[in-house]
Amino acid sequence: MHVLGIMGSPRRRSNTELLLDAALRGASECGATTRKVLICEADIRPCMEYYQCAVDGTCSIMDDMTHLYDSVVSADVIILSSPVFFYGLTSQAKALVDRCQALWARRYMLKTWHPDTELRRGALIAVGATKGVRLFDGVLLTAKYFFDAVGVRFAEHLLVRGMEDKAQVEGFPEYIDDAAELGRRLVLR
Ligand SMILES: Cc1cc2nc3c(=O)[nH]c(=O)nc-3n(C[C@H](O)[C@H](O)[C@H](O)COP(=O)(O)O)c2cc1C
Repeated sequence: MHVLGIMGSPRRRSNTELLLDAALRGASECGATTRKVLICEADIRPCMEYYQCAVDGTCSIMDDMTHLYDSVVSADVIILSSPVFFYGLTSQAKALVDRCQALWARRYMLKTWHPDTELRRGALIAVGATKGVRLFDGVLLTAKYFFDAVGVRFAEHLLVRGMEDKAQVEGFPEYIDDAAELGRRLVLR
């Protein structure tokens, strides 16, 4: 069982990464291998609508995404994590999501890729500063269609409100425990 964690915050060692780390730790305690991708340190350019993917399922932009496609396709579990920026994902995370149009094309246009969506699972970890009821509407919707494009079932989410300062979540061990538990559930179910 392999778990791919996508860290979508530009701020290192803060709320998003601490929660993702806990989830990956939980998964690894249950026997999974894990990999964390730091998008903020990767060269992932935005989709340019060249539409090479509609022809052969590949993206003609050559950057760190070129290798990441294999990781996304081969993972058993994908955890997408991001702070809420203006009611959406960070631009770094959104660039990765948009570039997965290539996988959507393989799956739905070319029909050359048939992922086992019963076995493969996805989870969203999102963090925001405010407490509004609709705070996570945008990221939940984007995650739903991202997970569909990359061929995983949207199985879990952890949504944490009221986190503004760097690493503030460290003062809330219950959220760290929730993330570890999420990681364990993703592997055991
Ligand atoms: C550009 C920007 C936009 C933000 N937009 C929102 C927002 O729409 N709603 C909200 O509750 N918090 C918003 N925040 C606050 C972050 O979601 C919050 O500080 C979060 O804890 C950051 O996570 P991190 O520490 O893992 O980077 C925004 C922060 C930035 C820098």
